[in-house]
Amino acid sequence: MSTLSKKRYTITSALPYANGPLHIGHLAGAYIPGDIFVRFLRLNHKDVVYVCGSDEHGAAITIKAKKEGVTPTEIIDKYNKQIKDSFEEFGISFDIYHRTSEPIHHQLSQEFFLNLYEKGEFIEKFSEQYYDEEFNQFLADRYIVGTCPHCQNDGAYGDQCEKCGTSLSPTDLINPKSTLSGNTPILKETKHWYLPLDKYQPWLEEWLIEGKKGELKSNVFGQCQSWLKSGLQPRSMTRDLDWGVDVPLAEAEGKKLYVWLDAPIGYISATKQWAIDNGKNWEDYWKTQANPEEDSTLVHFIGKDNIVFHCIIFPAILHAHGGYILPDNVPANEFLNLEGDKLSTSRNHAVWLHEYLEEFPDKQDELRYVLTSILPETSDSEFTWKDFQARVNNELVAILGNFVNRVMVLSHKYFDGKVLSGSALTGADQNVFEELSKYPGLIEQSIGSYRFREALSHFMNAARLGNKYLADEEPWKIIKSDEERVKTVLFVASQIVANLAALAQPFLPKTATKLFEMLNLPQQSWEKAGQVDVLTDGHQFGEVQLLFEKITDEQVEFQLSKLTQAKIDNAKAAFVATPVKANVTFDDFMKLDIRVGTILEAEKVAKTKKLLKLKIDTGIDQRTVVSGIAEFFTPADIIGKQVSILVNLEPREIKGIMSQGMILMAEDADGRLDFVNPTGAIKSGSTVR
Ligand code: MF3
Ligand code: ZN
Repeated sequence: MSTLSKKRYTITSALPYANGPLHIGHLAGAYIPGDIFVRFLRLNHKDVVYVCGSDEHGAAITIKAKKEGVTPTEIIDKYNKQIKDSFEEFGISFDIYHRTSEPIHHQLSQEFFLNLYEKGEFIEKFSEQYYDEEFNQFLADRYIVGTCPHCQNDGAYGDQCEKCGTSLSPTDLINPKSTLSGNTPILKETKHWYLPLDKYQPWLEEWLIEGKKGELKSNVFGQCQSWLKSGLQPRSMTRDLDWGVDVPLAEAEGKKLYVWLDAPIGYISATKQWAIDNGKNWEDYWKTQANPEEDSTLVHFIGKDNIVFHCIIFPAILHAHGGYILPDNVPANEFLNLEGDKLSTSRNHAVWLHEYLEEFPDKQDELRYVLTSILPETSDSEFTWKDFQARVNNELVAILGNFVNRVMVLSHKYFDGKVLSGSALTGADQNVFEELSKYPGLIEQSIGSYRFREALSHFMNAARLGNKYLADEEPWKIIKSDEERVKTVLFVASQIVANLAALAQPFLPKTATKLFEMLNLPQQSWEKAGQVDVLTDGHQFGEVQLLFEKITDEQVEFQLSKLTQAKIDNAKAAFVATPVKANVTFDDFMKLDIRVGTILEAEKVAKTKKLLKLKIDTGIDQRTVVSGIAEFFTPADIIGKQVSILVNLEPREIKGIMSQGMILMAEDADGRLDFVNPTGAIKSGSTVR
């Protein structure tokens, strides 16, 4: 277990952008795993600092501010607080939650830039970028909109068209406009400082690919390998932005350090601040030591979108600077999905932490438990509310809660809440103790290899062991005949509870605290787990507390209805009506002969995806119409339905079938179709005008 054999640890979780609230995907990606790991290290008396903080720079923040009509400072203050509060509520036990807007961070980022600059590490390059002459500034990608060259969407951004999903660069846009002034931007030459990642490629291959094979998780290793395979390119470390850390050069006025040379350095500046506040030396946690054995072990917990950042770019920066330790591991998680769909901030398809906390106060550990059970450790995974309910009700309530509750209630009922050793241990008792003593080692092994789901399942197996023991021994049946044996059974069962309390600490901090209160024991360090003499003869328990409650069907339905509502709101908000066409005269309009018809028959047109062949009673005749609605309606859906049909459209051959007319359909921005129907109360052949 080399991972856990070190003395000192520097643990980070990705700095969230302070431009919006966090959802369960964030928690499952970088924070729950980090917190379990850190709690485990602390329980084992390691010297550990766990740092995080808000990433408060970049275009994402200024754009949000502009959208809401407030200053960037108001945005970062608001979300820094909200995010920090959510983390605290869920027991994510950072030693410091810092902010990249603090002067200590600006100074350190600038120091990094200057260090690399003075060593001549950067390549200086000129390029042409869009510039808004009215606002006198270069435009970040998101500040430019125009027509997408792929799908003709008029609202595509300089980095992406959100309609067709294509990645763009600003110069791809047709008819680009600045979102600041609305004017057409000009192209203007600008200078930037690039980190020559290609130069570090051989070093990265040795350090990362040779050096960490078999240590990195396969999803992480694979991504790194494919990046290196396609060859690293120089990356710009500066940007023309109006919000961020100034590039500390006179000739770089108005330029800012790009996120690569800003956010991850936030880990170091956060540690510096923590060291100042706590009388520590930050260099112990970040600098290489005279004796390499003394180097701190650096582990970055992140989501998969940050792998390249933490495995390639940040290490290259640390390496170029020199004197810094490099990450020992980067146990990145894949993505968590929600109810069959990607989590999405912009579509509001999410479970927001601040909303969960309002709707389920005091159920922080329940969410921690369920998310830990389904962490996307090696591939994407999925959260559903039904599964949440099942795991809470069938595992936390029915196994852990039930076992603890029975032990506590019976002890209070029979022996006034006292632990009494009773008669000698039986073989069954000894077997249980022996089993129990294996769990700390199993959990340690799983946590040490970043397998937190597995670690949690070991913990639950320990609870199952207790449940089974009670069910086998049935103390409630023998209390009348053999009180001494009941004392022993509850003595054994109580030691299991004490073990569960110790083992729960990395995963379920609130529950562990409650368990220790019930047991009337102080919190235990890890070596107490697995011991079966934690409770001594005559020990007095505290009061019984409720650990978990069932999640009701109503609660699940409420959550599902929220997600459905978000979808509806989203569809409404996303709909952009097409502009009105040029006017027509009344006579023009009267040329159209539209009738009410009834669909008599419908069948799919062979070898097509969209087409249905319809037979329609128009009141005048029965005729064949080919219609492109098969993606949305099956023949069974529509036979017998009334439709509006244009009957004097020039007949047209489609896939070898003569189509005599066109049924009228409504179509939304996504191409979804619906009927514009008569409701069935009017005769076929009636005119529509
Ligand atoms: N704020 C960025 C993100 O959420 C970067 C976080 S990782 C860090 O993706 F290294 F920059 F902190
Ligand atoms: Zn497009």
